[in-house]
Amino acid sequence: ATIRREDYTPFPWLVTETRLDFELGLERTRVTATLSVERNPDAEASPTIRLNGDGLELFSLSCDGAECAGHTMDGDDLVVTLEGYSHTIEIVTEIDPSANSQLMGLYASNGMLCTQCEAEGFRRITFFPDRPDVLSTYTVRMRGPKAQFPVLLCNGNRVETGEDGEQHWAEWHDPWPKPSYLFALVAGDLVARTDSFTTMGGREVELNVYVRDGDLERTAHAMESLKRSMKWDEEVFGREYDLDLFNIVAVSDFNMGAMENKGLNVFNTKYVLADLETATDGDFDGIEGVIGHEYFHNWSGNRITCRDWFQLSLKEGFTVLRDQLFSADMGSAPVKRIEDVRILRSVQFPEDSGPLAHPIRPDSYREINNFYTSTVYNKGAEVIRMMRTMAGEERFRQGTDLYFERHDGEAATCEDFVSSIEEGAGLDLKQFRLWYSQAGTPKVTAELHHEGQTARLTLSQDVPPTPGQPDKQPMPIPLKIALFDREAGTHSGEELVVLDSAKAEYEFEGFERKPVLSINRTFSAPVTIERDIPREDLVFLAAHDDDPFARYEAMQELMTGHLAAAAGGGLEEQEREEAVGDIAEAMRAVLVDERLDDLMRGELMLLPSQTYLAEQMLVADPARIHSEREQLKRELGKRLQSEMHRLYERAEQLPYSLDLAARGARKVKTQVLTYAAASDPAKAVELAAHQYDRADNMTDRQGALMVLAGTDSAERTARLLDFYNRFQGNALVIDKWFALQASSLHPNAIEHVRALAEHPDFTLKNPNRVRSLYMAFAANPHAFHAEDGEGYRMIADLILALDPINPQTAARFVPPLGRWRRIEPGRAALMRKQLERIAASPKLSRDTYEQVSRSLG
Ligand code: ARG
Ligand code: ZN
Repeated sequence: ATIRREDYTPFPWLVTETRLDFELGLERTRVTATLSVERNPDAEASPTIRLNGDGLELFSLSCDGAECAGHTMDGDDLVVTLEGYSHTIEIVTEIDPSANSQLMGLYASNGMLCTQCEAEGFRRITFFPDRPDVLSTYTVRMRGPKAQFPVLLCNGNRVETGEDGEQHWAEWHDPWPKPSYLFALVAGDLVARTDSFTTMGGREVELNVYVRDGDLERTAHAMESLKRSMKWDEEVFGREYDLDLFNIVAVSDFNMGAMENKGLNVFNTKYVLADLETATDGDFDGIEGVIGHEYFHNWSGNRITCRDWFQLSLKEGFTVLRDQLFSADMGSAPVKRIEDVRILRSVQFPEDSGPLAHPIRPDSYREINNFYTSTVYNKGAEVIRMMRTMAGEERFRQGTDLYFERHDGEAATCEDFVSSIEEGAGLDLKQFRLWYSQAGTPKVTAELHHEGQTARLTLSQDVPPTPGQPDKQPMPIPLKIALFDREAGTHSGEELVVLDSAKAEYEFEGFERKPVLSINRTFSAPVTIERDIPREDLVFLAAHDDDPFARYEAMQELMTGHLAAAAGGGLEEQEREEAVGDIAEAMRAVLVDERLDDLMRGELMLLPSQTYLAEQMLVADPARIHSEREQLKRELGKRLQSEMHRLYERAEQLPYSLDLAARGARKVKTQVLTYAAASDPAKAVELAAHQYDRADNMTDRQGALMVLAGTDSAERTARLLDFYNRFQGNALVIDKWFALQASSLHPNAIEHVRALAEHPDFTLKNPNRVRSLYMAFAANPHAFHAEDGEGYRMIADLILALDPINPQTAARFVPPLGRWRRIEPGRAALMRKQLERIAASPKLSRDTYEQVSRSLG
C-alpha cells in the first residue's frame, strides 16, 4: 500500500503515559505495556484505537483492568474498541531478540540487548500507535539476570534500582514526552568512559560512553567530540541540554550510523571507537561529525520532532546542516565544504537524476526506510543552507530561535520550519518553498558577454523532469559570484544574485577587459552550472580564485571537461595534448603554491570521481571513463613527478599528530602514491611498501595498502596478509581489509570479491561487514561494471540472499543497479535483467520490492 502525505490526519487518541515492563532474556523477552489514553480533542473521534504491531504475538490484553469491549487484528495491527473518554490499556507480548536479524526493534548483538526504533521498529516490541505525532511520557522498568546484563539503560533518568537473587532491575523515567521512535533500551555487559559537562545554565550533566570491555581506550575521541558538540550548540544555536545524564552506547551490529534516542544515543561502533593505530583521519572526522549530529538532534528532532515521516528532512536536513557547520568550526572550513559537496554530487546528484528521484519532502512511499536518503539528508541540508546564505548568519539565527521557541514540544512540519525562518529572519520564502516539493537538480546556464566597460551575465535555469513530475517551475537559486580582472588577478567584491526566473540578465560596470567569472562560490546552491568557459579561464581560477571552493571547482571543471569529452566523443591527438598540458599546468601551480595548506592541496589534487564523471554524460560508458581517467592520472604523474616527489618527501618529515598540518601531510602522501601507481607502478609499489612498513598510524597504513591492493605485486600479497594478521579480531579494521580489496583498481577485483565472500570472517548477519565488501564493490566502477555483467549478477545475488535476513540493508544495494538508463545499452540491458530477476522472486520484502519496482520504472 502506498502512503500519501496529503492523507495525514491527527491520531484520535492521546497516549498521556506509557509504562513498559521488560523481563529481559536474549531468547525471550516479555513486555508489558500500560498505556493511559484519552480522546484527542483536536481529532475526529473514533470508537476504536489502532495499535501498530509487526510480527507480534498478543499474549494478553485488558482495558481498565477488565476485558476490553472488543478487539480485532487488522493485518499486524491490533484494533481495540474503546467506548469512553479515557482508558488504561494493558498489553502483554513476548519477543525473541536473538531471532531478530533485521536489527529493528529489540535485538541481540554480541550477547547484549539493544533497540533501534526509528522509523517503525517500536511496533516490533509492543502494540502501540507507532507514529511520530503521538508523544507520550515513558516510565520503564527492566529486569534481568544480573550476571548477563550488569548494565541496564533506558531513556531519561534512572530513578530506582534493586536486586532479588540472580535478578536485578532498574526503573527509568523520561520527563520529556516523546514519540515511540525515540525509545531505547540497552542491557549488557558494558563498561563506560565517564565525564561531565556543565551547561551554560549551570546544569551538571553526567556523560557516559558505553562499550565492550577492552574497547575503553578507544573512546577518548568520542567523549571529546561530545563535549565539543554540547558547547558548540550552546554558542552557535543557543541550545542547552535538558537532562542530568547523556549516554552513548556502541553496538557492532547496526543498520545505520547512529540513533538519537532521547538521552540514550545508540551508535554503530564505527562512529565511536578510534585510536591512531586503528582509525584514519577520515574515521576521526566521521566520529566527530556523527556524535555532533546525534547530539544536535536533541533539539532538532527530539524537543521538536516530525508530524509524520514525510517531514523527515525537517529534522535530518537541519541536523545535517548543523553537524556540517560544527565540523567546519572544529577543523578546516573550506575542506569540510568541499567534502560535503563531493558527497552531495557523488550520491545525491545521481539519485536526483535517476528512477528514485524524490523531493526532500516526499509525497508518497511504501516503505519509509527507503527514504532515509541522501536527498532527504544532504540536499535537505543544502536547502536550509541556502536560506542561511540569503538571510546571513545573524538573521538566520533569529529564524532558528523563533522555530525552537514556537514549536518546542511539538511534532512539526517542514512548513512550520520555513515560516519560522521567513518570519524570524525576515525573508520572503513563498517561491522558495518549491525546493521542498520539486525533485531534480536544477541546471543553471551562465553566459558572460563584454562590451565597452560593461560585463553582461545571462543566467537561465532548467529543472529537469523527474518520475511523477514532468513539468517544473523556476526556483530561487542564490548564486555567489565574483568577476576577476584577469591581469590583476583580483575581483572587486563578491555578490549574491538570486536567480528566481527562467532567465535573467545582470550588468556590471567598469570592466576594461572581459572579466573571468567565478560562480556558485562556496557552492551557494545545489545546482549544476553549464557554461562555455575557455580552458585558460579555468586555469586562471584554479590558480587565483580566493574562494577555496571555487578554486577546487575550477580544477575539477578543467579535468571533468576534458575527461567527459575524451570518454564521450573521443579526441584528436592534438586536442588531447593541449587539454592535458593545461591541466598539468594548473596542477603544477597547486603543487608548488606555498600559500596553500596541505589539506587543501590534497583536495585540489583529487581527480573527479568516476560516478561524478558518469553523471556529466547523458549515457556513460564506464570502461571508457575508467581508462581515460587512468590515462590522465598517468600523464599527470609523469609530468609532475619531481614536484610530487618533493611534496612527498616534505610530508614524510612531519611526525604524527591530529593537527591540520600533519593530516594534510598524510593526505598529500597518499595522493602522490595514487598518481605514482598510474605513472610509475614499480616506484609506487616500493614507496607504498615502505610507507606501510614504517607507518605509525592507520591513515598512512591504509593509504599505502590501498595503493598496493591495486597492483599485481608480491608486496600486495605480503602486506594484505600482514594487515589481516596484525588486526585480526578488530572487526572495524577487518572491515577495512575487506573494503580495500573490494574497491581496488586491481584487474581481478571481481574475483577477489567472490573469494572474500567465502572468507570465514565474512557474514551476511553484520551490516558493517556486508557494506565493507559489497558497497565498496558496487562503488568500484571498473569491477562492478565488468562487461559480461558479472558484477551486476553478484549484487543481485547479494540482494536476494540478504533480503530475508535484513531487508532494510538489502534494499540499499538496489540503487547501483537502478542507474541502468544512464549506462551504455549493452550494460544497461544486463543491469535491467538483474533487476527483473530480483523482481521475479516470489517473496520480496516491502523495502526491496519498492526499490526494484521504482528502478524498473
Ligand atoms: N535518525 C538517525 C540519524 O539520522 C537515522 C536512523 C535511521 N534508521 C532507519 N531505520 N532508517 O542519525
Ligand atoms: Zn539524523
